[in-house]
Amino acid sequence: MLSQAVILVGGQGTRLRPLTYRLPKPMIPVLNRPFLEHTLAYLKSHGVGSAILALSYLPEAIQSHLGNGANHNMALSYAVEASPLGTAGAVKNAEPYLEGTFAVLNGDIFTDLNLDAMLGFHRSRGAEATIALTRVDDPCSFGVVETEEGGRVRRFVEKPSPDQVTSHWINAGVYILEPEVLRHIPQASHYMFERGLFPRLLELGEPVYGYPFSGYWLDMGTPEKYLNLNCDLLSAKVISHLIPDLSRDGVSCAADTVIHPSASISGPVVIGGGSRIDRGARITGPVVIGADCRIGEGASLERAVLWTGVSIEAGSRLKQCLVNRSETGGKEQVISFGQP
Ligand code: GTP
Repeated sequence: MLSQAVILVGGQGTRLRPLTYRLPKPMIPVLNRPFLEHTLAYLKSHGVGSAILALSYLPEAIQSHLGNGANHNMALSYAVEASPLGTAGAVKNAEPYLEGTFAVLNGDIFTDLNLDAMLGFHRSRGAEATIALTRVDDPCSFGVVETEEGGRVRRFVEKPSPDQVTSHWINAGVYILEPEVLRHIPQASHYMFERGLFPRLLELGEPVYGYPFSGYWLDMGTPEKYLNLNCDLLSAKVISHLIPDLSRDGVSCAADTVIHPSASISGPVVIGGGSRIDRGARITGPVVIGADCRIGEGASLERAVLWTGVSIEAGSRLKQCLVNRSETGGKEQVISFGQP
């Protein structure tokens, strides 16, 4: 069993703007709970008892929310960078907290990858580094990993053009590493796993393996993928260990939600505390409604995620969208994705 994991929380998540303007990407709510809480629950379910958060963007927002981790049954430490050190540099910065074999997770992926099985693979191969691999139809915007039979990595190809595609297995952003590999990462300099450490380990002839898995994997990098993640969880395409008892076809709502008797709600729907659903409103899941929202008379919502404090005007029709309150002026902003 792995006892430690480093979670990488770096960039601003530029593709997720305007959601992440003042909120680090891993704090954005998924089923009304910060994304990182789902990650911690996932790690906990695999017996990981201690996580080190490698932070470079808005670290205070995360530290003040999670503290020492006592509320999340996880011992938390923080390795904060003065300026971004890159994915591998951030792990080097966390070295003082690391003891023995550990996992590294990109802070923006959701997966049900079995970490115990991956560790068994890592040990059976005598690997120094094992990279989880997921299969995608179009690998052109990802880091492709070519392996030999048995899983040893032969080559990395970053963002191949369509005619360069030789494998559909991509780096899933979850690694198991032996502490010895840290000596190949320069101290206090910007250094990446994909373009730096992993190719360097190959050059040195170190045993680097790819671990293919076929479970759920999503990089929450764009608003549309973020919506998909919420909907996948609501529809039980994947389970969050944070909310394992979510009502799959029903309606989960806080005790103080007020729902007008003429409103129609068909699950799966989650509604946060203090929200109000007015006369004749129609909600067709999968839908997440944050705390303190108001759905006006006759409004309809379908496949949508609403953040805290959103007000939907009477008679509005919203489908396939995200709604939050903009930073400036507190007005609702709707990010929609057309028809499903
Ligand atoms: P952003 O959208 O900028 O967050 O990154 P990305 O989704 O394009 O992914 P990338 O491959 O650059 O990074 C993978 C993971 O490492 C993401 O969770 C990033 O937030 C995180 N990361 C990237 N650079 C840094 C860094 O300099 N420091 C730390 N601590 N984390 C980083």
